[in-house]
Amino acid sequence: MLLSIRSLNKMFPGTRALDGVDFDLQAGEVHALLGENGAGKSTLIKCLTGAYRRDGGTVLLEGTEIAPQSTVQAQDLGIGTVYQEVNLLPNLTVAQNLMFGREPRRFGLIDNRAMRAQARRMLQAYGLDLNVDRNLGSYSVAIQQIIAIARAAALSGKVLILDEPTASLDAQEVQLVFDVVRGLRERGLGIIFVSHFLDQVFDLTDRVTVLRNGRKIVTENTRDLNRVSLIGHMLGRELEDATSHDTINRGPRPPMLRFEGIGSRGVIAPFDLAVGQGEVVGLAGLLGSGRTETAELLFGLRNAATGSARDQSGKIDISNPRAGIRNGFGFAPEDRKTDGIVADLSIRENITLGLQARRGWARPIPRDQQNRLADDYIKRLDIRTTGREKRIGELSGGNQQKVVLARWLAMNPRFLILDEPTRGIDVGAHAEIVRLIHELTDQGMSLLVISSEIDELIAVSDRVIVLRDRRHVAELTGDLMNPDQIMKAIAATDAQTKELA
Ligand SMILES: Nc1ncnc2c1ncn2[C@@H]1O[C@H](COP(=O)(O)OP(=O)(O)OP(=O)(O)O)[C@@H](O)[C@H]1O
Ligand SMILES: [Mg+2]
Repeated sequence: MLLSIRSLNKMFPGTRALDGVDFDLQAGEVHALLGENGAGKSTLIKCLTGAYRRDGGTVLLEGTEIAPQSTVQAQDLGIGTVYQEVNLLPNLTVAQNLMFGREPRRFGLIDNRAMRAQARRMLQAYGLDLNVDRNLGSYSVAIQQIIAIARAAALSGKVLILDEPTASLDAQEVQLVFDVVRGLRERGLGIIFVSHFLDQVFDLTDRVTVLRNGRKIVTENTRDLNRVSLIGHMLGRELEDATSHDTINRGPRPPMLRFEGIGSRGVIAPFDLAVGQGEVVGLAGLLGSGRTETAELLFGLRNAATGSARDQSGKIDISNPRAGIRNGFGFAPEDRKTDGIVADLSIRENITLGLQARRGWARPIPRDQQNRLADDYIKRLDIRTTGREKRIGELSGGNQQKVVLARWLAMNPRFLILDEPTRGIDVGAHAEIVRLIHELTDQGMSLLVISSEIDELIAVSDRVIVLRDRRHVAELTGDLMNPDQIMKAIAATDAQTKELA
């Protein structure tokens, strides 16, 4: 056995994050580590990499007990990690990133030629022919992620841990990363793969271990499992099917907002968009197709070069986010880690932050009202926490996201933009969010939902707009709003789009 973990324990104040967990990893396997938000996946990994100190249990690497005190030590032992966010340096070149900390030297100086040659050879092993002199930041996130994997594999070479590495990639990019991972499996690495995308788990992995509330529930061969049994293990109950396709046709909606000719050169071609009251408009398209840019223009995060917006009472200002908020708009961005959370504040403070900002800091929201709001959303979104005063930085990744969503909901916007609302959120909470969106629209809220998961988009949307190459290329409603048509529109060429229309 490459790696065997026995009776691993980890306590946080008030939380038993890991409770006697056993886990085995063989050389040449991809082993999925699954579980709901807060189940203990990241904690297990951090104990393994020395980021956290374990409270008890043993970890054997190739039969020898190890207890790394830092991620660098873990790396030296052969355990490398790649996280959801690329943690390399975008302003250095590809070669510098790959060779950072172990640059070849000549006469004590960094040997740039040798460094670039080595970097190029490393990438060629993955079938990548990149310009290693270019800044890392000039490549797509997928390529950056592959470079991070290449670096971790080269540095560590025995165990590779991937903690939600595909969360911000589109379908094609995921395959690119998977090809690289499969290559490393061939070379005999043991790979731990954490993901909330079950399709990817079935596509890539050999075995699955499920954690629930810090305990190991089961380890099985992936091919002996199906979706339903897997979800059952994760939740400890059956999932009610809230994401099924039978969207209720709710008929036309009274018009509420009308955007006309909104566009910005090089960002997005001018488009019109009308949103009815209580309507959900879905935005589909590959990463880079202009989905997020569309949302940013509507909310005023980017200046629209052309176009105007109006509601029932006349023209409205969308030139900046402050105006957006005054208009009753809300925007929960995709990258909540950087845009959304204030790690040192409590859950309560993070939830009431937006409301307080809108009200003005001179008029603090009474404490009991803050408490009620926080408790209400903790319950509605099933935020796993020991209480409302917990620092948000201590929540698991998925639960942090739910807090950011709660902040926007607490402001009760009339038009809410959700960019990838279920990224990083587990299957149970997924279904909750779909249900929540239906509930919000029943109360008259309008939404724009961006998602790469087409099934989910269909489940929540009244109509779906497809973007390609920074243009709105198709709009699908009724029977045409199905995965097949949406995929076709995403992949079509311009001539084909005309035919579809
Ligand atoms: N630094 C910390 N301080 C206090 N509690 C923590 C800390 N890190 C994690 N926890 C708690 O440990 C438990 C497990 O969290 P962990 O981050 O391992 O979950 P996860 O399975 O990775 O979830 P997700 O899918 O949301 O990323 C949670 O209850 C979390 O609140
Ligand atoms: Mg996690």
